[in-house]
Amino acid sequence: MLEIGGDGRTWLLSGPTSSYALSLTEDDTLLHLHWGPRIGLADAEVLADRPLPPYRGFESQLDGLEEYPVEGGPRFVRPALSVRTDGIRGTEWTFSAYEVEDDELRLRFADGGLGITLHYRMRHDVVERWVTLANEGSAVEVLRADSATWTLPLREDWRLSQVHGRWAAESQLVRTDLTYGEQVIGSRRGHTGHQHLPWVALDTEGATEERGEVYGCALAWSGTWRVCVAQLPDARVQITGGIGYDDSGLLRLEAGESYTTPVFAGLWSDGGFGGASRAWHAYQRAYVIPHAEQDRPVLYNSWEATEFDISEDQQRELARRAAAMGVELFVVDDGWFGKRTSDRAGLGDWTPNPDRFPAGLKPLAEDVRALGMQFGIWVEPEMVNADSDLYRAHPDWVQFQPGRKRTEFRNQLVLNLAREDVQEYLWEKLDNLLSGAPIDYVKWDFNRCFTDAGWPGEPYPQKLWVEHVHAFYRLLDRLRAAHPGVAFESCSGGGGRIDLGVMARTDQVWTSDNTDPLDRLAIQHGFSQIHPARVMAAWVTDSPNTQLNDRVSSLRFRFVSAMAGVLGVGGDLAKWSEEELAEAREWVELYKEIRSVVQRGDLFRLRPPAGGLSAVQYVLDDEVVVLAWLQAQHYGEPVAPLRLQGLEPTKTYECRESGEVHRGAVLMHHGMPAGLRGDFDAAVIRLRRI
Ligand code: GLA
Repeated sequence: MLEIGGDGRTWLLSGPTSSYALSLTEDDTLLHLHWGPRIGLADAEVLADRPLPPYRGFESQLDGLEEYPVEGGPRFVRPALSVRTDGIRGTEWTFSAYEVEDDELRLRFADGGLGITLHYRMRHDVVERWVTLANEGSAVEVLRADSATWTLPLREDWRLSQVHGRWAAESQLVRTDLTYGEQVIGSRRGHTGHQHLPWVALDTEGATEERGEVYGCALAWSGTWRVCVAQLPDARVQITGGIGYDDSGLLRLEAGESYTTPVFAGLWSDGGFGGASRAWHAYQRAYVIPHAEQDRPVLYNSWEATEFDISEDQQRELARRAAAMGVELFVVDDGWFGKRTSDRAGLGDWTPNPDRFPAGLKPLAEDVRALGMQFGIWVEPEMVNADSDLYRAHPDWVQFQPGRKRTEFRNQLVLNLAREDVQEYLWEKLDNLLSGAPIDYVKWDFNRCFTDAGWPGEPYPQKLWVEHVHAFYRLLDRLRAAHPGVAFESCSGGGGRIDLGVMARTDQVWTSDNTDPLDRLAIQHGFSQIHPARVMAAWVTDSPNTQLNDRVSSLRFRFVSAMAGVLGVGGDLAKWSEEELAEAREWVELYKEIRSVVQRGDLFRLRPPAGGLSAVQYVLDDEVVVLAWLQAQHYGEPVAPLRLQGLEPTKTYECRESGEVHRGAVLMHHGMPAGLRGDFDAAVIRLRRI
């Protein structure tokens, strides 16, 4: 809902529980008024009438109060917009007009020939903000154009939550007290990165998992980015975020050209961290994730089982075992194309390896389909190995600096996707691939960061950082439009490209290359702060864990860990015993029963993974699912009962496992035993409201 007051200079956006307000002063300064619980227009107008702080030399009257601080004038905060026109620094803008279309508010400003529009849209309780620049004058160099600056109310003792990590250890949740100065997170790597999800949360007055005010911001961008949380000298907090890590230049806008930033979304919740997560999840399921109402199938992926050593017969045998287990989607990972027998060759040559698949992928795909499963493949289109036909033909198609070394990671180089010829090549190859065999699923990988981001011959080469991502998005969008039945997974060496931007055009994401079921609990805990189980792929792999740590764990523990997201199996089924295969079949069957509740329900994190008992709970209509894990039991003490959340206290709930009937109030206040013992135990508990 959008209300307008103050003679068309105060705007109030409201969702079910929250409001966001801003207004223009008489001299066209755009001030932030409110972000928090729902208020009325009269309240916003009172806030708009408050005077600016008194003038003091050495201080800005605007810092910390402005909705989108541009560079120049009496401001000392980090500018959200920094441009150069004819060598002149900064922006002096005047308000032109506002427009409302389909619940989207647009505030138009102009500085000479440069039009700057701030966009606002409320979806549930999430405020989406973005900016467009349209140039009608002399060329403008855009050093930085953040998507938004968020202003928090003046309070004491803010705390910052973020999820940080690295390869195989993504999404580790940390909370630290905020202090004066700036805390900056981001990626200067060309992709979202394993190091941080582009999300922060801020709370004050000691929010807990289910209580207290929490503010969150998430950026919808899959390239280089920066989010800066600044506590200003007067203790006000602002969060500014957008494309680019440094301010060294994003692009140049000639007359007639325009540019749109990605969305930087903000959410206020007074339901604690859990309430904030549920609101983010509901928003993504409703507005971001394609076909979120459809449950994702159980997948098998051969990567950990076979790595590069694949053959058609071996894949067929794995498919037979996977189908017998109840798997619904069989994915052939790396190694099916070009000369890809190791990571040293083949990337770029997207045709089936004739030694391995003499008749192409079609026969295997058809056999997989005949087994009742969908068929999927792995690709990494943005990359090329030096040892490939593509690179031999087009050594200038990669990002490089003339006369400098071409840095390789995993023996590969990054294609310059900003080039139209590269875009066309990839479109043609991928379109042919999807047309040539019955392919239902594409795992799209990205296995190295940008290093030598040069573009010889291009007058403004650094634009490739932005244009690469736009080209990646366009390619995905075009493939999705041409092949509407194909689902896509975003992978980047595990969780290196997870954000609201890629999520708008993929069906699920690969959470981490770390499939250890214990490590995964912590990774999933961090991931769930912002993204829903509906996109969080998780595989059951072998024990001892072959990839990372040789940890031994039961099939039960591995399955229950992976059942907290989109279940997959990634073990070497050729080595699983008949008993293991039979047990796995039962787990897959159980997952299919609970998956709509897991994938579409409300998530309650009952206990974080911190060494002992941890648990999550999902609620969808009358159905409740609890997944509980015990890492280690100590001193023979019985494990604490699990206090459930989000139930109706006066209703009764029947436990499908035990047949017992419980009262909602008792389950929430006193809890129920999960019945776990020893080390690495786990349980699934299903309850139904009666
Ligand atoms: C990345 C992915 C893995 C696998 C390999 C294949 O590391 O995260 O799941 O697909 O590439 O090379």
